[in-house]
Amino acid sequence: MSEWLELAAAIAREAGAIARDRFHEPRTIATKTSEIDLVTDVDHALDRLIRERVRAARPRDALLTEEGGAESGSSGVRWIVDPLDGTTNYAHAFPHFAVSIGVELDGRREAGVVYDPMRDELFSAARGGGAALNGAPIRVSAIGELRRALLATGFAYDVHRARTQNLAHFERFIGCAQAIRRAGSAALDFAYVACGRFDGYWELHLAPWDVAAGLLLVEEAGGRISDFDGGPPPASGARTVASNGRVHAAMLEVLAR
Ligand code: IPD
Ligand code: CA
Ligand code: CA
Repeated sequence: MSEWLELAAAIAREAGAIARDRFHEPRTIATKTSEIDLVTDVDHALDRLIRERVRAARPRDALLTEEGGAESGSSGVRWIVDPLDGTTNYAHAFPHFAVSIGVELDGRREAGVVYDPMRDELFSAARGGGAALNGAPIRVSAIGELRRALLATGFAYDVHRARTQNLAHFERFIGCAQAIRRAGSAALDFAYVACGRFDGYWELHLAPWDVAAGLLLVEEAGGRISDFDGGPPPASGARTVASNGRVHAAMLEVLAR
């Protein structure tokens, strides 16, 4: 395991254990960009912890975390962190959420981990080194047709204000895929594509911390990642598609209709 991956995994496990330990405690919940965009005391606690751990081990690296913002560095390495992906689930004690940590060097994704503490599943990937689940190699699925594919998607927090285009995409896919899930954690959606539980995933408005680890997981598990037009997926997280590769062209065709 690379030094970055080892450190990311240790930090994700430590943070995830706190989220798991506090899962049944009462939550302090506030809102951010809209009345449905929640943040809990645990999101903040994990964000602080992860920043402290990265700073202590890698003082020259840059940081971008969802709740703590950006901090520059001088090494060319940047840690991109979603301390708790699946906050709405967490706020409702729905046990599906993850800690996501991606590491890039000079803007290129190099390592990533997504940790689901409730199932004790650590998804990890390093550039050129493949992807793994709890240390065992994983691959994307072999499903080749949309009508046999289990797909995933998600909706951004402005869905009340701006009637989202994703409802049209959802309607089209539900008419041609085997089924669709909206499980509420983008990081786990990518991880599940990487290990073959999902065959494809698309979402319109993700953020850098939602995709930093997940895109590398899917790539390293032999899948395909792109924007809605088939070009490289933007690091911003906009218009992202990740799949097993075999259903990718068909997904792009449905998104373009
Ligand atoms: C959200 C989740 C959700 C996705 C949203 C994300 P958060 O992240 O990943 O599945 O649909 O686009 O913002 O707020 O729980 O970290
Ligand atoms: Ca997120
Ligand atoms: Ca989050």
